[in-house]
Amino acid sequence: MSIVVTGGAGAIGTALVNALAADRHPVRVLDLHAPESVPAGAEALRADIRDLAALTSALSGATAVVHLAGIPQEAPFPDLCEHNILGTYHVLEAARRAGVTRVVLASSHHTVGFHPVDRSLTPQDAPAPDTFYAVSKLAGEHLGYLYAHKHGLEVVAVRIGSFREHPTEPRHRHTWLSPRDATALLHSAATAPLADPYTVLYGISANTARWWPDTGWDTIGYRPQDDAAAHPAPGPLTDRWQGGGFAEHPGPQL
Ligand SMILES: NC(=O)c1ccc[n+]([C@@H]2O[C@H](COP(=O)([O-])OP(=O)(O)OC[C@H]3O[C@@H](n4cnc5c(N)ncnc54)[C@H](O)[C@@H]3O)[C@@H](O)[C@H]2O)c1
Repeated sequence: MSIVVTGGAGAIGTALVNALAADRHPVRVLDLHAPESVPAGAEALRADIRDLAALTSALSGATAVVHLAGIPQEAPFPDLCEHNILGTYHVLEAARRAGVTRVVLASSHHTVGFHPVDRSLTPQDAPAPDTFYAVSKLAGEHLGYLYAHKHGLEVVAVRIGSFREHPTEPRHRHTWLSPRDATALLHSAATAPLADPYTVLYGISANTARWWPDTGWDTIGYRPQDDAAAHPAPGPLTDRWQGGGFAEHPGPQL
């Protein structure tokens, strides 16, 4: 049962690949760049997710793909279209062609970043994208929904909060995702039986002050261990929006 991790040389990917390899789980790292190191039992592959043929062959024989590759912040819209939207379409289409049934998509809390900080969201709350980046992540979620319902894939879209070693800013009291919770969450999302072909859930630790619902956590057996409240308070919250600085970003000049 092997898992392909796109963007496996990046921050979250490195943590996930190391955790999977430590569990003796067969893992294939796919990235534009070579990872700093490849743990025993893992295999590394340089490939671009803009290349559908390369992706399809990289997914051959895998049981799941955790798709983390892409631009992780605000950027010119054409670049986000290529790396994040076209790239996610390629991952889903390659999974369909290669017979990989489970796809985990790295979405983002910035899909709801324009909700104000003084309210907690319910599963019924509409998206409120705070950047072109967030729009690209919502497009990825919708592609996941389409492939789940039209082509029989099982897709879990994880709206990742703030992946950091420790909380470093006030907003992280609400949004923090610790490395050990992140790896447990992505592992479960890639392997647990699902109730529905398409699931969207928030990827955060068990933060006492969280803004987002824990819907879907039980379904995949995610039990977060960490809470930002257990760390020194990094000061008062001054953000207006749940997306913090992304929502205040003036937008890239094209
Ligand atoms: N880090 C966070 O707090 C956070 C929060 C929300 C969502 N996310 C999402 O999680 C994912 C991983 O985030 P990260 O912090 O590890 O980012 P990162 O920048 O550290 O890693 C992304 C990796 O993707 C690779 N990549 C980019 N374009 C590629 C392409 N065309 N083909 C192949 N590889 C490509 C990069 O080389 C890099 O190694 C991203 O999709 C990001 O949007 C991250």
